[in-house]
Amino acid sequence: MLALLSHAPGGPETLRLEETPTPEPGRGEVRIAIAACGVNYPDALIIEDQYQFKPPRPFAPGFEIAGTIDALGEGVTGWQLGDRVIAHCIVGGMAEYVTVAAHHCVRMPAEMPFEIGASLLVTYGTSLHALKDRAELQAGETLLVLGAAGGVGLAAVELGKAMGARVIAAASSEEKAALARERGAEATLVYPREPSDPKALAKAFKDVCGPAGAQVIYDPIGGGYAEPALRAIAWGGRYLVIGFPAGIPRIPLNLPLLKGCDIQGVFWGSFAERQPQEHAANVQSLLDLWQRGQIQPTISAQFPLPQGGTALAKLLQREVLGKMVVLISHGGR
Ligand SMILES: NC(=O)c1ccc[n+]([C@@H]2O[C@H](COP(=O)([O-])OP(=O)(O)OC[C@H]3O[C@@H](n4cnc5c(N)ncnc54)[C@H](OP(=O)(O)O)[C@@H]3O)[C@@H](O)[C@H]2O)c1
Repeated sequence: MLALLSHAPGGPETLRLEETPTPEPGRGEVRIAIAACGVNYPDALIIEDQYQFKPPRPFAPGFEIAGTIDALGEGVTGWQLGDRVIAHCIVGGMAEYVTVAAHHCVRMPAEMPFEIGASLLVTYGTSLHALKDRAELQAGETLLVLGAAGGVGLAAVELGKAMGARVIAAASSEEKAALARERGAEATLVYPREPSDPKALAKAFKDVCGPAGAQVIYDPIGGGYAEPALRAIAWGGRYLVIGFPAGIPRIPLNLPLLKGCDIQGVFWGSFAERQPQEHAANVQSLLDLWQRGQIQPTISAQFPLPQGGTALAKLLQREVLGKMVVLISHGGR
């Protein structure tokens, strides 16, 4: 099969499209003929050895996929050849085939296109776990989302709206802010691409959130944005730590004391492994929300497999609106 392989730690330009043996499913596994692979920031981290988990090389990046089951391992029940599924595989998605544990597969609704299936699990799964399980976001609360037009950010905007929150979206351009408004944000803030004036940025966050502040802040960017945003949190608020494309911030601990607030870590992958029943319930909720039209992944670009590295480069350059997918045409180079 063809796969976009990482042989050594490095950026997207180090990925190579190569012929490699098609994997055989082991006991309890299925093989999936991949139709689409969602592109996520962790794909860029994992090929640079910057992710929590370091898979043995060579490997193809690609956390989440949608496709068709084309082989069953020993002992697999409940699945048939030809079933359309979505799955999170951590690595292996930018390839023609991948093997995954059968219990990691989710049956796709018949009317769901593959590119949508490949865009739901990681982004919406992370944001639902963060907003529902960690922050316990309530209807009527104010939710401030940073990086609000990115993958997890836009999912948080849509889910926050679906949960009845007043959503405020912050992003680095008017185009990104407009997309967040389109997907449900009531108010927006355009912040600078380089946060060089923390006091001015804190004031901008406070102004857009209003005098009571935001009860929940969803932060998938970190860096110099985190502390100014935390200064705009409400008394008793919850600050969700999601990721750090702008760098890992250091927060003065007097701030959570003064605000009487919680700083909450979110690690969706570990949650899915450690709490499989709660994870499965969340995935079902996402499918229901999609079928009711309350969430709709914004896929702004699609790439063929040989250009998977180009997609990752666009993420790192902060150019992406919503989500990108890599489409796999079997046998095509
Ligand atoms: N905790 C978890 O369980 C979990 C799960 C999935 C993802 N994540 C993390 O969440 C973060 C976002 O992932 P994603 O897939 O949503 O990525 P994404 O689509 O690229 O979105 C990231 C957003 O971060 C903002 N950003 C700020 N500074 C940036 C920089 N220096 N480089 C790139 N982007 C920058 C950009 O928005 P603006 O230009 O508007 O600022 C961008 O839209 C990543 O750190 C990822 O590892 C965490």
